[in-house]
Amino acid sequence: DKTIAFEGLHQAGVLTPEQKNATFIAFNVTVDTIDKLQSLFKILTKRIAYLTQAQTSPKTANDRMPPAESGILGTHIQPDSLTVTVSLGHRLFDNRFGLDKIKPYHLVEMTSFPNDRLEKEWCGGDITLQICANSQESVIYAVRDLLRHSAPFMFPLWKIDGFLPSRDIDNHSTPINLFGFKDGTGNAPTNDKQLMDELIWVTTGSKEPNWCTGGSYQAIRLIRFNLEFWDRTPLEDQENDFGRHKNSGAPIGMKQEHDDPEFDKDPHGDRILFDSHMRRAEPRNPERYTAKLRRRSYSYSLGLTSNGLLDMGLIFVSYQKNLKTGFIDTQKRLNGEPLERYIKPFGGGYYFVLPGVKNAQEYLAQGMF
Ligand code: HEM
Repeated sequence: DKTIAFEGLHQAGVLTPEQKNATFIAFNVTVDTIDKLQSLFKILTKRIAYLTQAQTSPKTANDRMPPAESGILGTHIQPDSLTVTVSLGHRLFDNRFGLDKIKPYHLVEMTSFPNDRLEKEWCGGDITLQICANSQESVIYAVRDLLRHSAPFMFPLWKIDGFLPSRDIDNHSTPINLFGFKDGTGNAPTNDKQLMDELIWVTTGSKEPNWCTGGSYQAIRLIRFNLEFWDRTPLEDQENDFGRHKNSGAPIGMKQEHDDPEFDKDPHGDRILFDSHMRRAEPRNPERYTAKLRRRSYSYSLGLTSNGLLDMGLIFVSYQKNLKTGFIDTQKRLNGEPLERYIKPFGGGYYFVLPGVKNAQEYLAQGMF
């Protein structure tokens, strides 16, 4: 089974192709000294390095002690493309630990946008873990291990589970979201290293403190869908709201998913409404990647709302080198889009994705200490 390397200039889980299952879990730290905070990152590093590689589960030497692991994956443990991505919220850089002087340059609190109804219990956190794998049990195995080992240092604030269609992941095709549209088509190619350095990764020579090089910013937005309303909406309106055909994912008036319109020159251009999600999000003006971000979202399903509606939607996740030219400016262009009738953001936050761990001697966040 697939193993994804833990060591590298960057953390895994950002450019990594989407796995089928995910958990996003946000924590506040409970420690009060910088030394203990450092211990937390050493422990997280050790556990993630362990969990992401295939293992034979250790025997319990003393049955009066809890077993070393949950046991839910049996004795021959396959990580199933597990990645764990660690990010930090802005509050960790307040004066508690004296980290204010080395705060990532763009890291701020997520503010409310006009269509948001943010619920405090679903927002923020000092640390987030994005845990992805190709089965739910592999994700849960990692969640339980990480909670157990980090319990003396931090406690969970909110947690949400995501999924993508298994068929799409197996076929390496663009995953379909709960509106029934392919989601991710317009993303920049991840094998273009120069483009990724331009859009996603913090590089040297920016305004960022040195230790941030190799990191990124994560925007998480928990967005509830009104699916009962959507399912009564004519196909033509659904397609106009996105600017794409539902089945093929092609821009309206075009044939193939990856056909790309030139809005200003193309005869097809005008069929894609100015108000459509794709045109507002990515106007291709003044350049192709106006939205400087990579989307890596998951669907969620949580039961019913207090009004008896399906509580389902999108865990929107984007990664970007610069929160402003990435998520924030793009969201500002989307404010007021017709799609807003069907969506309600209720949680999330902005976080700094730690640089990767280059070898077994290093640990996550080492540059902060
Ligand atoms: C494109 C869905 C929220 C940014 C798309 C597409 C779909 C979609 C179906 C077209 C296919 C594609 O290129 O991936 C949604 C849904 C959302 C949502 C259901 C939430 C309810 C957002 C947000 C942002 C965003 C919050 C950023 C602030 C983009 C960008 C594109 C895009 C940049 C690429 C357009 C292109 O290159 O053609 N989205 N999206 N989306 N979306 Fe969203």
